[in-house]
Amino acid sequence: MLDRILAADSLQSLDSVRVALLGKSGEITAKLKSLGGMDAETRAAEAPKIHALRGRVTDAIAGRKAELESAELERKLATEKVDLSLPAPDSISGTVHPVSQVMDELAEIFADLGFSVAEGPEIETQWYNFTALNMPENHPARAMQDTFYLEPRAPGDEPYVLRTHTSPVQIRALEVHGAPIYTIAPGRVYRSDSDATHTPMFHQVEGLVLDRNITLGHLKWTLETFLKAFFERDDLVLRMRPSYFPFTEPSAEVDVGWSMEKGRRVVGGSEGWMEVLGSGMVHPRVIANAGLDPDEWQGFAFGCGIDRLAMLKYGMDDLRAFFDGDIRWLKHYGFKALDVPTLSGGVGA
Ligand code: PHE
Repeated sequence: MLDRILAADSLQSLDSVRVALLGKSGEITAKLKSLGGMDAETRAAEAPKIHALRGRVTDAIAGRKAELESAELERKLATEKVDLSLPAPDSISGTVHPVSQVMDELAEIFADLGFSVAEGPEIETQWYNFTALNMPENHPARAMQDTFYLEPRAPGDEPYVLRTHTSPVQIRALEVHGAPIYTIAPGRVYRSDSDATHTPMFHQVEGLVLDRNITLGHLKWTLETFLKAFFERDDLVLRMRPSYFPFTEPSAEVDVGWSMEKGRRVVGGSEGWMEVLGSGMVHPRVIANAGLDPDEWQGFAFGCGIDRLAMLKYGMDDLRAFFDGDIRWLKHYGFKALDVPTLSGGVGA
């Protein structure tokens, strides 16, 4: 039996030998079955021999299989060549969704400014989504966001929520990394809302800086640098309007100027204003809730809709189409997988 195994010269023929020996009507299987018809004494004598034989055969098959597989791999390595520098043909390549593209562009721009990328869960506790961000229970700001509440895991537990913004990642990143910190957190967020400019799931990017002696000036410079790089326009003008967020003080909503070009509103110039993000200086209570001393650390945070950034930059006008999965839309608005955004090549190239 062992020579038959060693003689097998391919994985297929080895498998036929295996079936002939150990398969349902294989020779060794038949021997094992014959034990049932033996008297007790013969069985006691034969059983260990048959089991030992089965053990040897199983080991021999595994050994031969490993030999054949490594020979096969050697052969493939020697004969098959893949030219990784060849571009994938258009007919078989998918496209990168504009949301993924914009996330890559953001990571590239902020990496250049020394920011890391942080992540957090989409199913979040009320502590991280609200309370730690200075929105205690019954705080009216909780009603500002149309929250999806999940069933509690056990009766009496506080229900989890689908995070309504990326701000909970501020607390999580501070807990893990402490300060100083320079980070962005892109990801999915959820609100119970749906029309041409709102979908129940959309994307935000959070920015968080906490260090010593950080001022509103740093916030404004960072946003201006980011938006100019992102929209690839030097004539981009920023307007900061006083606003309110529970987790920042003072808070500012940020508008960018737009102008008409060939019948389309484009970012740049100052014929009108449109809002692109919310921001402010991190509230001392938020810093304390993340376990740090607000007298030592200050910083700023901002939150920005990624889908909206994509629409403004790449000219889509219906947000819902982002999530329809229509292959024609993806072919039209998607990006080639190999066109990775870089600052030197133009992030949106
Ligand atoms: N989390 C806010 C929102 O979703 C945006 C924001 C983030 C505002 C950080 C200020 C600072 O509306």
